[in-house]
Amino acid sequence: MALLFLCLFLIHIGFSHHVSADFNSDFDIMWGNDHVRILDNGQQWQLTLDNSSGSGIQSKSEYLFAKIDMQIKLVPGNSAGTVTGYYLSSQGDKHDEIDFEFLGNLSGDPYIMHTNLFSQGKGNREQQFYLWFDPTADFHNYSVLWNPQLIVFSVDGTPVRVFKNIENLGVAYPKNQSMTLYSSLWNGSDWATRGGAVKIDWSKAPFVASYQNLNAQVCTSSSDCSANSWYSKAALDSSEQQKLQWVRKKYMIYDYCSNTKWFPLAPPAECTH
Ligand SMILES: *[C@@H]1O[C@H](CO)[C@@H](O)[C@H](O)[C@H]1NC(C)=O
Ligand SMILES: *[C@@H]1O[C@H](CO)[C@@H](O)[C@H](O)[C@H]1NC(C)=O
Ligand SMILES: *[C@@H]1O[C@H](CO)[C@@H](O)[C@H](O)[C@H]1NC(C)=O
Ligand SMILES: *[C@@H]1O[C@H](CO)[C@@H](O)[C@H](O)[C@H]1NC(C)=O
Ligand SMILES: *[C@@H]1O[C@H](CO)[C@@H](O)[C@H](O)[C@H]1NC(C)=O
Repeated sequence: MALLFLCLFLIHIGFSHHVSADFNSDFDIMWGNDHVRILDNGQQWQLTLDNSSGSGIQSKSEYLFAKIDMQIKLVPGNSAGTVTGYYLSSQGDKHDEIDFEFLGNLSGDPYIMHTNLFSQGKGNREQQFYLWFDPTADFHNYSVLWNPQLIVFSVDGTPVRVFKNIENLGVAYPKNQSMTLYSSLWNGSDWATRGGAVKIDWSKAPFVASYQNLNAQVCTSSSDCSANSWYSKAALDSSEQQKLQWVRKKYMIYDYCSNTKWFPLAPPAECTH
């Protein structure tokens, strides 16, 4: 009872809920039931893929703004053709989505970290990166900060992508639809690796992606998060800016903003503001 009052009190003065790594209380299996392994009392879990199925999970709750750190160790060895997705998404055809997808590769060849962002059903905002470490050797943090002012994608605390709220310039911003957190591991043979040229080698199955130490501060439509510092962040500081520029310069391999086939006259407003 005392705890309930404390919770109500905290919600009242504007703090987010805390979600920590416990698979059993925070997630449901979406598909591939027997391809999800839950370890260490729910503190760690693994998604697996073989020639009979992949697997996917989703959070039990929906969030409206969140700061999420997830530690993931990607499929090791020959992971060509596999895709490990980790994303937030709302429902419906005018949906919002914040997307990380990790495209596997042959042993020793680099993964691609593919990102995208949908606002009210409009996507086509892909940016792709190589990573500056081997994402299969160890766990690394892949993080999303999503508040009313901006969305920041980060890897081990290094921002790799920022999307600002520029609704005033007519660009829809994800802020009125709650999103669920998803992760899945699936067969992307037809496009993932070198544009589909390298398929999954099923003799290497099962493919396994591992997760641990989810650390999330989340708001729900009924909660007010205004007392959290992450909620009011409106811009990167100068050291974060420098890191972002470093990643863009050295590791970015595709940016929709530079796609002159799609945008022969001028890139979309969010690319220049
Ligand atoms: C994997 O995907 C490819 C391309 O879509 C498809 O041809 C193949 O049958 C799939 N294999 C399995 C085992 O699901
Ligand atoms: C799937 O993999 C199993 C185990 O490696 C193998 O015995 C089976 O023949 C495979 N099935 C198909 C349809 O490739
Ligand atoms: C809220 O989201 C819906 C999509 O479900 C969209 O059609 C509507 O325009 C949005 N409203 C505002 C005020 O952004
Ligand atoms: C990953 O995130 C956790 C939880 O937020 C933090 O304690 C840890 O220091 C982070 N690790 C790295 C390598 O950034
Ligand atoms: C896989 O490796 C090739 C060769 O190094 C590279 O061109 C490609 O970008 C890598 N990643 C994917 C997912 O195809």
